[in-house]
Amino acid sequence: MSATDILLQPVQAFLGCLTPDVWLQTASQPQHLALIIQDHANCEKKAASTAINLMFRYGFYTELQVKLSQLVREEMLHYEQVLEIMQKRGQAWQAIPAGRYAGGLRKEIKTYEPQALVDVLIVGAFVEARSCERFAALAPYVDDELAKFYRYLLKSESRHFEDYLTLAQSISKQDISPRVETFRQLEAELIGTPDNLLRFHSGIPV
Ligand SMILES: [Fe+2]
Ligand SMILES: [Fe+2]
Repeated sequence: MSATDILLQPVQAFLGCLTPDVWLQTASQPQHLALIIQDHANCEKKAASTAINLMFRYGFYTELQVKLSQLVREEMLHYEQVLEIMQKRGQAWQAIPAGRYAGGLRKEIKTYEPQALVDVLIVGAFVEARSCERFAALAPYVDDELAKFYRYLLKSESRHFEDYLTLAQSISKQDISPRVETFRQLEAELIGTPDNLLRFHSGIPV
């Protein structure tokens, strides 16, 4: 088994479905790739911002502070790296509205504590796992520079997925498996149903 497969196995086992081929074929088309790169830049910045918000809201939780502080630094580094790739390609920054994915997952988050925090952390685990799975799946479809970058990202994104999941279980008094299953089904639905907005985390392109 390759080093990539060892990283990917738990990620793919965690997710309710793999990225459909039609998404990979559509996203990697030259006329769509710039949009995917732009959305990827947005995702990295959003990942950092979400984690910083959690750090302010849950200051009492030391393990979360340590894990998310490291995560924020890594997401900002990824963000800078995507910007660098855009610059190299002469790709101008483009303001694009967010897709349905993150909002669709957030709708299921409970509003009372500590369940709200547990749910946010489970959602974080799914977003990181999906990103990791999608980078690996997309790599064979894109040019060498981008493929190399996507494969480089796998390692930190798979760790982020595990960190979020560990934090969720450590804060919850009950086994989080039933909640994980609820989000697993919801996430797979967002990935596996028609979606008219092509984004890094979008569903089946129509
Ligand atoms: Fe990242
Ligand atoms: Fe990440």
